[in-house]
Amino acid sequence: MANPSILILAGDGIGPEVMAEVKKIIGWMGDKRGIHFDVSEDLVGGCAYDAHGTPLTDATMARAQAADAVLLGAVGGPKYDKLDFSVKPERGLLRLRKEMDLYSNLRPAQCFDALADFSSLKREVVAGLDIVIVRELTSGVYFGEPRGIFKEGNERVGINTQRYTESEIARVARSAFELARKRNNKVCSMEKANVMESGILWRDVVTEVHDREYPDVELSHMYADAGAMQLCRWPKQFDVIVTDNLFGDLLSDAAAMLTGSLGMLPSASLGAPMANGRPKALYEPVHGSAPDIAGQGKANPIACILSFAMALRYSFDLGEEATRVEKAVEKVLADGVRTADLMGPEGGSPVSTGQMGDAIISALDASL
Ligand code: NAI
Ligand code: MG
Repeated sequence: MANPSILILAGDGIGPEVMAEVKKIIGWMGDKRGIHFDVSEDLVGGCAYDAHGTPLTDATMARAQAADAVLLGAVGGPKYDKLDFSVKPERGLLRLRKEMDLYSNLRPAQCFDALADFSSLKREVVAGLDIVIVRELTSGVYFGEPRGIFKEGNERVGINTQRYTESEIARVARSAFELARKRNNKVCSMEKANVMESGILWRDVVTEVHDREYPDVELSHMYADAGAMQLCRWPKQFDVIVTDNLFGDLLSDAAAMLTGSLGMLPSASLGAPMANGRPKALYEPVHGSAPDIAGQGKANPIACILSFAMALRYSFDLGEEATRVEKAVEKVLADGVRTADLMGPEGGSPVSTGQMGDAIISALDASL
């Protein structure tokens, strides 16, 4: 059988720098674990604009559609700020998400013990936290019609419409239940069924999909406002949270920041299952191209490395290897290895991007 394929789109700024460390880990998986991927690389964002006059060519788009997983670094930078909207680097990323129809956005909030004091919450509330928020990404109030600013008598009225079809709810629910089966078999669905009809439908459809297809997964429901409160009070009660686009936007940002630095946050965006049963998938760090530190070897590669770990778990069914990578990250942090963004006010001597990657490789070696 052919090796699973990965398309790497490193992008701009620190994108290529953090991706270089992921490539070390991909190489390590081949050398030390006999797990081989067919890796190809292409351009996205500003670098693609420089080469081709567009942030994403049709050829690259086709390659992304065909890949088992896409790993993206980051796009954008001040050099491209004055470009026309239609060719801005971010448009490349938006086109990928839209044409791959990536409706399920996974944002983990994972707190490594060694960084628990970075959180604004008490250590015991966040230490060891490991939850995932699944946000519906392609529908809901950001897309519903009618929308606009209209004149009504003597004043203006701003309108957005929360709209969800059964099939849109069902597919993101399935994505959350599949995820739960690869984790701890537990899903909490959040909406506002007490005040919104779309929330009533959401709760009904999630329950139907659960009862029919995933009765083995533990399902609970919570109103999203109560959920926000519970996330701050005792986040460890959750494992997988599934919610709509708007609530997911807010809840995932809040949950992610429970745990500290932007340089630590991975993400995945999943679409419909392909012929081989794997979902279409794009994995990327939450951070951007960080032009302020680009080219200086200062970037923290962990967000990108943890995004690759998500790919191992969710695209390649290599949960054990994903855990191995996460444990290696945990070990280097526990050993006090820190890039500059992870230095507390007391300071110290930070390692470079490459040194962080090498330390993670050593920890992987030690795991054998
Ligand atoms: P940013 O995430 O690039 O940087 C924000 C701050 O966090 C900066 O001080 C940066 O140095 C720091 N930072 C980010 N990632 C880091 C890492 N891995 N290690 C250490 N420090 C890190 O967001 P910003 O500055 O708002 O945007 C910069 C550019 O990136 C813009 O062109 C923006 O459009 C683009 N961007 C791209 C995204 C993407 O590709 N998905 C997401 C967000 C922004
Ligand atoms: Mg947001």
